[in-house]
Amino acid sequence: MSVKDFFIALSENQFLNNNAKKYGLKLGAQSVVAGTNIDEVIESIKYLNKQGISCTVDNLGEFVFERSEATAAKEQILAVIEAIHTSGVDAHISLKPSQLGLDIDLDFCYNNLEEIVSLAHQYDIFINFDMENYERLQTSFDFVERLSEKHDNVGTVIQAYFHRAEEDLAKFKDYRLRIVKGAYKEPETVAFQSKDEIDANYIKLLEYHLLNGKFTSIATHDHDVINHMKKFIALHDIPKEKYEFQMLYGFRKEMQIDLAKEGYNFCTYVPFGEDWYGYFMRRLAERPQNIQLVTKQVFNK
Ligand code: FDA
Repeated sequence: MSVKDFFIALSENQFLNNNAKKYGLKLGAQSVVAGTNIDEVIESIKYLNKQGISCTVDNLGEFVFERSEATAAKEQILAVIEAIHTSGVDAHISLKPSQLGLDIDLDFCYNNLEEIVSLAHQYDIFINFDMENYERLQTSFDFVERLSEKHDNVGTVIQAYFHRAEEDLAKFKDYRLRIVKGAYKEPETVAFQSKDEIDANYIKLLEYHLLNGKFTSIATHDHDVINHMKKFIALHDIPKEKYEFQMLYGFRKEMQIDLAKEGYNFCTYVPFGEDWYGYFMRRLAERPQNIQLVTKQVFNK
């Protein structure tokens, strides 16, 4: 088992996920998770906004198999939307359909999503549907399409490791899209496995959407990709209002500020909440060097 597979397996362990909730942010998670409650996350957003950075807020939550948990998650996201509106911070929402009942009942999930999207629509707040594993992909896309018939504040994510990504991108070209490489472990029947293939497809999709799409969030920490896209944007004179760079909270902080200072639109993905464990393990899977965060916390006591 590779280090990456090891951390992905940990992220999928329900027992460890549930236990972690009881103990607050631990193991260095506090450097990549912006607090456990709404007040803390709004403070983090204000700090980033002051540096010219907008935010997308993710109320962390995994393994939701009970209606009561999905309803609680919905209430929490509605409260975040109210807090964004009343505080006037520059932020929108990222959410995962599985947290709102996708694995419980599709109508129930749709109604939860509808409530969120329509409150956000009243306040002109954008809702981004994060994309999860392949099993949930088509249902999530269907929800996005159905909701966008009523509201124009909905967008989603295209994961470049999927063989079908190019087709999905063409279908969703009139949406605001975040394009990423893809974070979950997927079999070769549905996803590219090698870094070279994923990177090549990633750049191809970004270029396509920048030239043909509505709005592109270039979501990566990969400096080679970022430098390539900067040149591509300059060469094709892509207007600023058509794209932004995105990175996760706590990663490459200096580069985030530098990109904003250079005049690029920049948005930080800001996760918060008690259910931080699965998110944190996926970040360790992507970049085992992040394990330093853990060892520092465990040994520098
Ligand atoms: P990758 O991990 O491929 O690294 C490439 C190179 O960049 C590394 O070799 C290293 O040189 C450099 N590098 C990367 N991270 C670094 C760091 N922290 N410090 C220094 N150098 C670093 N996935 C998903 O499946 N669904 C989703 O909805 C989302 N949403 C999402 C939002 C945002 C804002 C981001 C940034 C990412 C996601 N992802 C995601 C995760 C995404 O799919 C992917 O797993 C990670 O971003 C890791 O890939 P990268 O492109 O960042 O670089």
